[in-house]
Amino acid sequence: MSARLAVTKLVKRFGGLTATDDLTFSVEPGESVGLIGPNGAGKTTVFSQVMGEHRQTSGTIHLGDEEISKLTTAARIRRGVSRTYQVPRPFPEISVAENIRVGLMPDNVWQMITRGPDPDRELELAEAVGFSASDLTRTPAELSMGDLRKLEMARTMATAPSVMLLDEVFAGLTLGEIAMISDLVQKMRAQGMTFLIVSHDLKALEPLIDRAIAIDRGAMIANGSYADVIADAAVRTSYLGAA
Ligand SMILES: Nc1ncnc2c1ncn2[C@@H]1O[C@H](COP(=O)(O)OP(=O)(O)OP(=O)(O)O)[C@@H](O)[C@H]1O
Ligand SMILES: [Mg+2]
Repeated sequence: MSARLAVTKLVKRFGGLTATDDLTFSVEPGESVGLIGPNGAGKTTVFSQVMGEHRQTSGTIHLGDEEISKLTTAARIRRGVSRTYQVPRPFPEISVAENIRVGLMPDNVWQMITRGPDPDRELELAEAVGFSASDLTRTPAELSMGDLRKLEMARTMATAPSVMLLDEVFAGLTLGEIAMISDLVQKMRAQGMTFLIVSHDLKALEPLIDRAIAIDRGAMIANGSYADVIADAAVRTSYLGAA
């Protein structure tokens, strides 16, 4: 169920801007790593390259022994990586259940027609993130930010990933909602899920990770225990605003 994710010498340029600058790191099977850094550091761009939504300028990405960096996004999802989005991206016109179904659907129309919905699995995923059965018929417009983040988690889990990339899962949440999402991540960690988690909420992030990586302007500035990374002089200057 778990796999090692490794990025090697990853570079991403948007015109003259280097969003990822020779970045090399790995996340071991079953490990949970926090990816931190200031706004614009390139955290989300790492995720979009791992998923194949943006093609790297150079460098490679491996899942286990396989290089995935030239595969389509759908093929990478089948291999077992999936992500949540910083800005939740539900399909607005359809229900919570149907949004989860989109995640459950194989990526070709033929299977979608022949397989049909799997209401038990939809309910299971909805309940796993804290929805009740009555929430299944609600539409995204009726959901709070906390509920939208829960839906992002359910959609991500629906693809049966071995590595989950979580982008700012705590942003805009109440303390109660943060606790709920944290519990869910902890449960999945206990089951061996591999995580790479981006969060500006360091207090919420700390208990969820085994290690932290800090980046600034696309390049790694620290990699180690959370305490060491937070105490690092470069991290304090670039991110935490301390001299
Ligand atoms: N599609 C794009 N085209 C051009 N530039 C982009 C694109 N996506 C991101 N960038 C730029 O790349 C840099 C890294 O952006 P990214 O969104 O990865 O940062 P981030 O660390 O996720 O920031 P935040 O904490 O604000 O979410 C920024 O300078 C951003 O403006
Ligand atoms: Mg981001």
